[in-house]
Amino acid sequence: SAAAEKAKARYPGEKKGFVEEMRFVAMKLHTKDQSKEGEKEADVQPIGQWQPTIEGYLKFLVDSKEVYDTMETIVQKAAHPSYELFRNTGLERSERLAKDLEWFASQGHAIPKAGVDGTTYAKYLTELSETDVPAFICHFYNVYFAHSAGGYFIGKKVAKMILDGRELEFYKWDGELFQLLGAVKENLNKVAEEWSRDEKNNCLKETENSFKYSGKILRLIAS
Ligand code: HEM
Repeated sequence: SAAAEKAKARYPGEKKGFVEEMRFVAMKLHTKDQSKEGEKEADVQPIGQWQPTIEGYLKFLVDSKEVYDTMETIVQKAAHPSYELFRNTGLERSERLAKDLEWFASQGHAIPKAGVDGTTYAKYLTELSETDVPAFICHFYNVYFAHSAGGYFIGKKVAKMILDGRELEFYKWDGELFQLLGAVKENLNKVAEEWSRDEKNNCLKETENSFKYSGKILRLIAS
């Protein structure tokens, strides 16, 4: 019936699996200058005008490490069995960030303590992982996939501007990235198959918070 068709069309990407639904929601939350799929107006400080500094970039790396340490601890502990599927995905960033920070230290840079953006997000993730599995999974998806997409290009650009093009470990993976992402996508789809439509919607709705928290950390680059 027409009503059934309409109900089907309500969740873009639905037919391809839940990751496609999460991606659709995420892409719309980008600003138009961030991605051609973005629908939001550019920020006060569009990405093309960012003036990165080593000091700001270090804050970004330290706060990112806070987030990845937390993500990776959560899936290791696996307070919920769904999280077990996301151990040793090859997407982990914590150890690589530790190596990058060691390198910066060896170059004479002072490594800052984690800032409020990183610690606030880490605390939020820890709580959410215990109380709301679909919402936590939304953050898991966005944190790792954003880094492989926009985050990766930002990293390349910043390296050219302030690091003499040095390639940090943060932007390297063992094996083919698209294969690692593909395997994680399959597991994300599998986990979401167990969810009711309400739980799926709850997960999608959380994308906005993911952008809010990660956006603050990203902006440290130009701070
Ligand atoms: C994908 C840019 C921030 C989440 C993308 C893509 C671009 C991009 C160009 C498309 C890549 C493709 O076509 O496959 C940016 C820029 C950002 C930014 C320039 C900030 C300055 C964020 C933030 C989040 C996020 C804060 C959420 C925490 C995602 C996700 C994808 C994506 C989930 C889809 C990745 C995939 O298809 O595998 N981003 N992004 N992005 N971004 Fe962002």
